[in-house]
Amino acid sequence: MKIFGKNIDEFINLTIKEIKRVVNGEKVIAAVSGGVDSTVAAYLTWLAVGDKMEAIIIDTGFMRENEVEENKRILEEMGIKINVIDVSNEFYEALIGKKDAEEKRIIFREKFYEILRRIVKEYKASYLVQGTIAPDWIETVGKIKTQHNVLVQIGIKPEEKYGFKVLEPLADLYKDQVRKLAKYLNISEKIINRQPFPGPGLLIRCVGEFDLDKLNALRSATAQTEGLLNKIKSSQAFLAIFRKPRMATSAAIVEFIKEIKNILKIGGRGFKTYEFYEYVTGVKGDSRVYSKMLGIYYKEYEKIIEKKDEIIQQFSKILPDYTRLAVMISEPRPAGKYAIVIRAVVTEDFMTAKVAEVDFNILQEITSIILKDKRITQVYYDITPKPPATIEYE
Ligand code: XMP
Repeated sequence: MKIFGKNIDEFINLTIKEIKRVVNGEKVIAAVSGGVDSTVAAYLTWLAVGDKMEAIIIDTGFMRENEVEENKRILEEMGIKINVIDVSNEFYEALIGKKDAEEKRIIFREKFYEILRRIVKEYKASYLVQGTIAPDWIETVGKIKTQHNVLVQIGIKPEEKYGFKVLEPLADLYKDQVRKLAKYLNISEKIINRQPFPGPGLLIRCVGEFDLDKLNALRSATAQTEGLLNKIKSSQAFLAIFRKPRMATSAAIVEFIKEIKNILKIGGRGFKTYEFYEYVTGVKGDSRVYSKMLGIYYKEYEKIIEKKDEIIQQFSKILPDYTRLAVMISEPRPAGKYAIVIRAVVTEDFMTAKVAEVDFNILQEITSIILKDKRITQVYYDITPKPPATIEYE
C-alpha cells in the first residue's frame, strides 16, 4: 500500500522526522476530538515528540451524549493522556440567538482558537497540532464552507493572531488515506470506523437560529436513534433539526408535483409541499450556495424514495432555486415547533455523495422514536445527493 508513491512505513517515518525537525524540542498541544483525523495527527506527533506533547479535548458543548467521556477513554487506552477542558458555556453565550450559518461557523472558529490561545499559553507550548486534511482546506479556500480548523490556508497567521504555530501533518491526505494510516498504526477500530463528525458538532445541525432547547431536542433524538442510524448502510448518517416548515406552493412546485406523478405513474391528490424557513448549503460548480429546501408529503413516501434519482433530476430542472428535497415520513400534524431531517449518505471522498438506500422499517422506527418528543412534529428523509446539496446543512 502506498501513500504519495511511498510505502506506508516510509511515509510515517518521514512524517515523524519532519515533526521532530519542525518542533525542535518545543512543547506541543494536540487538540483531539476523537475523530480519526485528529487522533492520527496527535498519535504521529506523540511518536515524534513523546512527553513534549499534551493532548486535550475541548468540550465545546456541541458533542453528542457521552461522547467526550467515551473519546477520553479510547485515547487513554492508546496510551495518550488526555485533559478534558469544558468550555461549553463560553460557546453557548457567544452563539445563542445567532442565525446565519456562516456567522455561526466563524464565531465557533474564533471562540475555538481564542480558547486554544489561552490553553497553549497556560501550557507554555509553541505548537498546536491539528488533524486538518485536504478536503478541509480545499473546500474552505474554494469557499465551499468555512471549516473551523483552517487558518493558514486562508491567510490567517496563527502565530500573530493566536500566539502559536500550527502543525498539520495530514494536510495533503484524503480521508481514505488517513484511515489506512490509522489501521497501520493500530489505532482502535472504533476510531477508524467512526463516522466523520464536524468540528462545530451539533451546532451546525441546529439549522438556523441557535438556542439550547433546539440543541437539547436534537441531542436527545440523536442519542435515542443512534443504534438505528448505524443500521443504515451509509458512510455518514445523522439528524438535523429545523424550525417546522410552512406549507407552500407555487406554479413551479405544482409543475414539479405533476412530474413526480408522471414518474410514479399515479394520478390524484394527496401531496403536500412545505418550504423550510432556513436556507441550507449546496454546491453549484465549485462554489457554495445557500438556497431553499423543499419538503414533500405523500402518504406512500416509500414510492418517492424509491424513485429519488429520477425525481431529483426533475427537481433540479424545475426548481433551480432549491438545492434540497426531503420526504416527510411522519403524518402532517399542526402542533409542535421543530422538524427533524434524517440525512444518510454513501461516499468515498466526501466531495460527492449519494443518498443511502434505506430500509423503510428503520425509517419508520426512527421516526416514531423522534416523535415521542412533543416539540418535534415532522420527520423527513433527505433525498438529495451532493451535488446539488452538501452533506451537512450549514
Ligand atoms: P459537506 O457538508 O461539506 O461535508 O458536504 C463534507 C464532510 O465534512 C464534514 N464537515 C466538517 N468537518 N468541520 C469538520 O471537521 C466542519 O466544519 C465540517 N463541516 C462539514 C461533514 O460532516 C462531512 O463528513
